[in-house]
Amino acid sequence: MTPQETANLTMAMMHSGDVVDLSDLPGVKLDKHSTGGVGDTTTLVVAPLVAACGGTVAKMSGRGLGHTGGTLDKLESIPGTSIEQSMDRFKEIVRENGVSVIGQTGNLVPADKKLYALRDVTATVRSIPLIASSIMSKKLASGADAIVLDVKTGTGAFMRTEEEAFRLAKLMVSIGTLVGRKVRALVTDMNQPLGMAVGNALEVREAVQLLSGEIAETDPLYEVCMLLGENMMMLADLADNELEAKQKLQNAIKDGSGLKRLQKMISLQGGDSSYLTVENMEKLVAVKQHIEVTADKDGFVSSMNAEKIGTAAQLLGAGRAKKEDAIDPAVGLVMKVRCGNAVKNGDSLCTLYVNNDQYLKDAEELLHESIEITPEKGEIRPMIYGVVTEKDV
Ligand code: URA
Ligand code: CA
Repeated sequence: MTPQETANLTMAMMHSGDVVDLSDLPGVKLDKHSTGGVGDTTTLVVAPLVAACGGTVAKMSGRGLGHTGGTLDKLESIPGTSIEQSMDRFKEIVRENGVSVIGQTGNLVPADKKLYALRDVTATVRSIPLIASSIMSKKLASGADAIVLDVKTGTGAFMRTEEEAFRLAKLMVSIGTLVGRKVRALVTDMNQPLGMAVGNALEVREAVQLLSGEIAETDPLYEVCMLLGENMMMLADLADNELEAKQKLQNAIKDGSGLKRLQKMISLQGGDSSYLTVENMEKLVAVKQHIEVTADKDGFVSSMNAEKIGTAAQLLGAGRAKKEDAIDPAVGLVMKVRCGNAVKNGDSLCTLYVNNDQYLKDAEELLHESIEITPEKGEIRPMIYGVVTEKDV
């Protein structure tokens, strides 16, 4: 399919159900979307940071399935928080606080579910135009004027190669341009978890740590959050250039205004925001036992399999195999190493947060399989492969 044909399909899909109208909110309505990652808690960092810098972030999010986590499940790990808000209340929260994240309305792009079932039986699940129209129809129906996408590539991602990821990224930016929205797309690495935490409250804790200035600027999660935020700010004309945007975002970390927006969003959505400090988040990740997964030799962490790491967290109860499954908000794992790190025999590779040990052995086995230790350091992949802007298509 050509970009124009794909854009036509996308618009037809978008109009198959409810289309959210955010036009009565002030400013450029911003959204972000990731094609699914492990340890990706960027929404909880970037949405409030951009709001603190003057942005209007009205985001509809999804639940986790399989090895990837979902923002809604992370939000619900904070007691009382409701991701179900009426459209009027959602807009009220955005008006007051600059940011709200809720679940998708019931009838958003019903054609997508039918097409997906057809793709399943016609071997077209991996068709790039069909993926692009599936993602973009839902984003466009959610009402944002400007969208920053994060297309993941690697073992934990839908797009296994960098080349495929750039094709998808360019096509989605083209669709946006053809239908009059502003869209940019990052292509980032998913060969290892983005953050160190994999699990619901554990990822909220990491987001709170980042917003509290406790995560280094060189950390991959920090870098990807900045790049997402910078591009959102550029699309909304909230900065003259990327450097200025980054400085504003960093100020919103330093002065605590980003964290305040997240706290306020949680309390406006019925949650107990007193948990959202580095100290109090400990209460939400309290579990029966912590178990270390250790290196069985000296060497370097040369590769990881993010999909298997996500599945290990799911086995501990952090995720669902089927839509109906319950999750335990406190459990999951925290990585102790990144690709390229040197380790000694017996060093911890990650800490498991366990309440139910039914599948603990399977989770441990998966983690040993996922983290490869070799005598040589080998080549380390970059975290960020590039950004596709409206000028590139
Ligand atoms: N995400 C979607 O929403 N649709 C696809 O087809 C693939 C990923
Ligand atoms: Ca997600």
